[in-house]
Amino acid sequence: MGSTLGACGDVNRNVMSPPAPYTNRPEYAIAEKVANDIADLLAPQSGAYYDVWLDGEKFFAHEMQKENPEVTAARNDNSHGTNFEGSPEPIYGDLFLPRKFKVAVTVPGDNSVDLFTNDVGVVVITNEAGELQGYNILAGGGLGRSHGKSNTFPRLADPIGYVPKEDLFAALKAIVACQRDYGRRDDRKQARLKYLVNEWGVDRFRSVVEQYYGKKFESFKPLPQWNFLDYLGWMDQGDGNFAYGIYMQNGRVKGEAKKALRNVIERYELPVVITPNQNLILRNIKPSWKDDILSTLKAAGVKDLAEWDGIESLSMACPALPLCGLAIAEAERGLPDVNARLRVMMNKVGLDSSEDFVVRMTGCPNGCARPYTAELGFVGDGPNSYQIWLGGCRDATRLAESYAERVKLKDFESFFEPIFAAFKEQRRGSERFGDFCARVGFGKLREFQAAAAPAVAVESNGNGAAAAVVAKQPAAAVTAVSVAKDVYEALKAEATKQGKSESSLATEAIKKFLGM
Ligand code: HEM
Ligand code: SF4
Repeated sequence: MGSTLGACGDVNRNVMSPPAPYTNRPEYAIAEKVANDIADLLAPQSGAYYDVWLDGEKFFAHEMQKENPEVTAARNDNSHGTNFEGSPEPIYGDLFLPRKFKVAVTVPGDNSVDLFTNDVGVVVITNEAGELQGYNILAGGGLGRSHGKSNTFPRLADPIGYVPKEDLFAALKAIVACQRDYGRRDDRKQARLKYLVNEWGVDRFRSVVEQYYGKKFESFKPLPQWNFLDYLGWMDQGDGNFAYGIYMQNGRVKGEAKKALRNVIERYELPVVITPNQNLILRNIKPSWKDDILSTLKAAGVKDLAEWDGIESLSMACPALPLCGLAIAEAERGLPDVNARLRVMMNKVGLDSSEDFVVRMTGCPNGCARPYTAELGFVGDGPNSYQIWLGGCRDATRLAESYAERVKLKDFESFFEPIFAAFKEQRRGSERFGDFCARVGFGKLREFQAAAAPAVAVESNGNGAAAAVVAKQPAAAVTAVSVAKDVYEALKAEATKQGKSESSLATEAIKKFLGM
């Protein structure tokens, strides 16, 4: 039930909840219902969309009918001055919001929705019996920024507080009304809620929201650690049926694969869920259907999770070129090749093929594929050129930071290999790439690169006839210099004697000879 209603408008956008297929986890059903209710609560009330696009009133009437009456009552309630009395748009009035507004709902521990990147995050809190008690509320997240404007930045949402279940809609309206009345309208690049929260600080923001809410927030309930769940592969729904999450490379499906998907969906009347990572989940699959579904999909080239490289199946790109008018670099079309190159680099430095990390790429700094919460984010900053963001984490609870700018696509090998090599050598235990970058810090990462950049590597070609001195330029130009085998052997022996690497001794010798 994703909705394009108000898409691109300065209103609340589509509301996300986890795509979890489990029937025995009541909190997920609550999250889904609440997401729908919030979408209704904050939907623009004008029927114009339906008049223009859906040929009239029937659909509109149907939509209105199915709205939860509590939502209608909450929208109309003006006990704390949140509404424009008598307006057809009680929450938005004539002016709507300063900018787009995004809400995600989830359950404790499940960060499949990238909760902290939303203007408002809602976490369902249940008791031990699984009964709804209330909600933790976060606010002030958002990712979009502009190159060269340091007053634009990605920001993670902050905890605001807890509200009992009957107060959720009032609390949400209060946040929306606060942003409506205080969010900046003079500069669209400063208009998102995150800038208001940032400027005021959480305490002031909370106290202004409380005036519209008419109550104080209770203290934020303690939560377990967040996990990024991708919902790929086979999942036991808990009701005897299975769900099957299929990785859709950058959200695209076409040709035979599309036909096969359509076939199995129609044949078994399967509900389909789109995940926040642009993938698909087929639900309600009876065990006896599994083989047919798998073989139909396989015959059409739809790969199972196990057949994808881990880097690929965790990664995500935005539409970018040629689809998005704001793109300045490739993303959706470029990422698969970059992922493959990253894997080759990782193999080269000896990282295991099971090693993965979250890679995301966008064609401009607006951040639609959420690169700023990835372990490795590519943000287009020119044709075939990217800003590199490092230090985010798999669970999307920490922001990455901008590490380098205008790194050319063709130079990725010389750029990343020294970092991967250092990661391989210096990681702690099974430390992940994003955590490693955050722990050692950008200064160290730059040292690794500097040590390797002008490096001269000496490689034997293995057949004993000759050996090569390979000079690696920072710009990835690789120059090979052949030397006779006896020269190489002498170099090797001398390097061992002096306790130096062959590369550094060769560099030293060549520099000395050339008077450098
Ligand atoms: C193709 C045309 C698209 C355009 C022109 C576009 C435009 C934008 C802009 C201008 C921003 C920055 C907003 C700000 O900082 O205030 C943004 C952010 C974002 N967009 Fe898109 N977008 C497009 C497609 C998509 C798609 C297909 C998705 C997901 C399905 C998406 C998801 C997001 C997300 C997650 C963010 C970052 C979070 C945030 O700050 O709101 N966008 N987009
Ligand atoms: S991040 Fe991608 S989709 Fe979003 S505006 Fe930029 S190029 Fe377009």
